[in-house]
Amino acid sequence: MRAIVYDRFGGPEVLEERDIAAPEPASEEVLVRIRAAALNPKDIVVRAGKFRWMTGARFPMPFGHDFAGEVVALGHGARGLSVGDRVFGCWNDTRPWRGSFAEYAVSSPDACAVLPPTLSFEEGASLGLAGQTALQALVDVARVSSRDHVLIHGASGGVGTLAVQLAKGLGAHVTTTSSSRNLPLCRQLGADETLEYAVDAPFASPRRYDVIFDVFGNRSFGEVRPVLNRMYVTTVPSARIALDSMATLWGSQRARLVVVHPRRADLERLLRWVNDGALQPVVDRVFTWGEVREAVRYLETKRARGKVVVRIP
Ligand SMILES: NC(=O)c1ccc[n+]([C@@H]2O[C@H](COP(=O)([O-])OP(=O)(O)OC[C@H]3O[C@@H](n4cnc5c(N)ncnc54)[C@H](OP(=O)(O)O)[C@@H]3O)[C@@H](O)[C@H]2O)c1
Repeated sequence: MRAIVYDRFGGPEVLEERDIAAPEPASEEVLVRIRAAALNPKDIVVRAGKFRWMTGARFPMPFGHDFAGEVVALGHGARGLSVGDRVFGCWNDTRPWRGSFAEYAVSSPDACAVLPPTLSFEEGASLGLAGQTALQALVDVARVSSRDHVLIHGASGGVGTLAVQLAKGLGAHVTTTSSSRNLPLCRQLGADETLEYAVDAPFASPRRYDVIFDVFGNRSFGEVRPVLNRMYVTTVPSARIALDSMATLWGSQRARLVVVHPRRADLERLLRWVNDGALQPVVDRVFTWGEVREAVRYLETKRARGKVVVRIP
């Protein structure tokens, strides 16, 4: 099968399209013919070797975590999916035999869910990692309710565009930060108030927020504390957030890191929001198979508005 792989850690130039053996599903796995794969910042840091402690350095390394496609074979013990099902999902680990930028990939049925006919493969691929990150941050970690005023910092990217919609769906009053060009997008997603992070000094205003979701991950707990009532959640792991989490285990102002755990139940929770009309994946650009490096370079600009997707022929 054709797949995107790399033989050493590095920049987008290390990505190569190559013929490799198609994987076979183990007993509890399904084989998916991938139709669309979405990019995540995680793909970039893994490719750069920053998660080497987790991925090891067995090359060629596969590329990509988010996928949508069709189930084409089942392992003997695979339950819950059938051949022909349109599915979407993601993995949070990188394994030498599994990447979403390939014609085929194997997955545990627990990492995918059935894609409804209302969503395209490109939209399905956009929902897995980013959607579960937003859901787990806002619902499971921050326990956002309709009484909360939520600030979403970095609201126009892959995670942020879904987080705004989820926070609104939870009934919260939602303020977003973005650059000026993305103010209309944030309003369109349902934000009650839209701030420009470079102009409006959102963390130095008299306004306070019950929950601050730092999606972009460049504001520390210490920095946002003066305007925080209850819960700060960041997406970016660091020694500082580890210490802040420990120090605020029982405080009235708490700091937490969200670490996404892909699971079918959460994909299905996201689908309920989609079916209710409260959540729609935001696809910024769809690239062709021949344009994978351009797609990656585009994501690396950190200017994506929603998700960057590659269609697999
Ligand atoms: N912990 C986890 O389990 C987990 C899971 C998923 C993602 N993440 C992390 O979450 C972060 C966001 O992921 P993503 O997929 O949303 O990334 P993304 O799609 O690449 O984010 C792009 C967005 O970032 C915004 N941005 C750029 N510079 C900014 C700045 N200085 N301040 C605020 N916003 C800025 C841009 O908005 P403007 O153009 O308007 O500035 C753009 O819309 C990444 O660091 C990713 O690694 C962590």
